[in-house]
Amino acid sequence: MAGSPPRPLLRRALEMIGEPAPGDLAIDLGCGEGRDSAELLGRGWRVLAIDAEAEAIDRLRRRADLTGTDRLETLAARFETADLPPCRLLNAAYALPFCPPGAFGAVWDRCAGAIEPGGLFVGQLFGERDGWAAQPDVTAHRRGALDALLSQFIIEHLQEEERDGADALGYAKHWHIFHLIARKRDG
Ligand SMILES: C[S@@+](CC[C@H](N)C(=O)[O-])C[C@H]1O[C@@H](n2cnc3c(N)ncnc32)[C@H](O)[C@@H]1O
Repeated sequence: MAGSPPRPLLRRALEMIGEPAPGDLAIDLGCGEGRDSAELLGRGWRVLAIDAEAEAIDRLRRRADLTGTDRLETLAARFETADLPPCRLLNAAYALPFCPPGAFGAVWDRCAGAIEPGGLFVGQLFGERDGWAAQPDVTAHRRGALDALLSQFIIEHLQEEERDGADALGYAKHWHIFHLIARKRDG
């Protein structure tokens, strides 16, 4: 099974950051079936793919389109406890909103701390009007809160999306999403 194609936001970020230097690490946090990990490997990155679900890691490793597996490390662990080594790119595609609010601050600080100066954060956060925002295990943000969250970063791309649609299972859902690419400041 080749699986889904990479997320457009990751592709945009990869155009911004250019080719990795030998040994450059990308963390794919909440990697799921590995659509973005496969792209990162294909472009020559060393990849640490992390997901709470062992089944997701298995599906990633079984992808037919996986290349450069000597550069792939996988970890079945939760964001809240996973060790995040220094990285040049941290990709969290539709993943960090599924961190409970009480843990989000510490998880975010560890993500931000892991990204090397000049490196990129790539991912989605939910806005306050997202249909899942009130769920106890979901963290959502107001637009106004993003500047403080991103104080160590320069915002390279921020797109706010709000629409009625469907979730992955086809149930009606209101989406309120921030698509974010942010570059870690030098000092
Ligand atoms: C919506 S999926 C996105 C998967 C993938 N990044 C993509 O774009 O297709 C969210 C993923 O985050 C993982 N996840 C959710 N909460 C997590 C947590 N606290 N720690 C680690 N992974 C988590 C889920 O297992 C799931 O694979």
